[in-house]
Amino acid sequence: MKILISAGPTREKIDPVRYISNRSSGKMGYALAEAAVKSGASVTLVSGPVSLTPPSGLALLISVESAAEMTDAIRKEAESSDVIIMCAAVADYRPVMAAEQKLKKKGERLILELEPTEDILAGLGGRKKSTQILVGFAAETEKLLEHAEDKLKRKNLDWIIANDVSRSESGFESDKNQAVILGRNGAKTVIPLQSKKEMAETIISVVCGKNNGGK
Ligand code: PMT
Repeated sequence: MKILISAGPTREKIDPVRYISNRSSGKMGYALAEAAVKSGASVTLVSGPVSLTPPSGLALLISVESAAEMTDAIRKEAESSDVIIMCAAVADYRPVMAAEQKLKKKGERLILELEPTEDILAGLGGRKKSTQILVGFAAETEKLLEHAEDKLKRKNLDWIIANDVSRSESGFESDKNQAVILGRNGAKTVIPLQSKKEMAETIISVVCGKNNGGK
């Protein structure tokens, strides 16, 4: 089985020394990659910029910076993957233009014009093969299940990991996490606060299990 996993943040350039990003550390995605390798799968990890050591035993590690680079890498690898897990916190917007030189402070307001990035997961959902299992995350600060269920349907996913990121002890940057795994056929697994390593093992066994919630 070939599993494709994305992890970490993306960086969207403002000028040569500044960018827009988010607090993703890559810990959840790297834990998933480690659990997937442990399960015996051939694992490709597409990673945004993080300061983590990649798990040993990966078939391939592709390092990217921007949402556009992540889109290209995922698209290329998706075709041959049986399971795709999008854990990366991909930027939803990027500056319309990145300045070639460092922007100078002028003492007045600076307005950055942003444009939407491509939704990688929705694109994958639109051309999903019937044998492929597509898994997304929903990082939410309110109406967790409602927003996660909406993304599950709208992006044509088999599973979504509804991740409450409003608490400081879980979600972004923390070593721990808590979530609810929702399947397209109504399956629901509640994962209480635990290490990202433990959670990753549960996610891999649920989404790669025989009794697949999406199929
Ligand atoms: O990296 P850590 O510090 O360990 O933190 C882990 C995490 C909180 C980042 C992770 O558990 C998590 O929730 N990841 C998803 C973050 C996110 O961007 O969620 P979202 O609800 O905004 O996006 C929904 C889904 O669409 C995600 O699967 C995302 O990868 C995908 N997406 C989003 C935007 C985009 N342009 N393309 C996408 O494919």
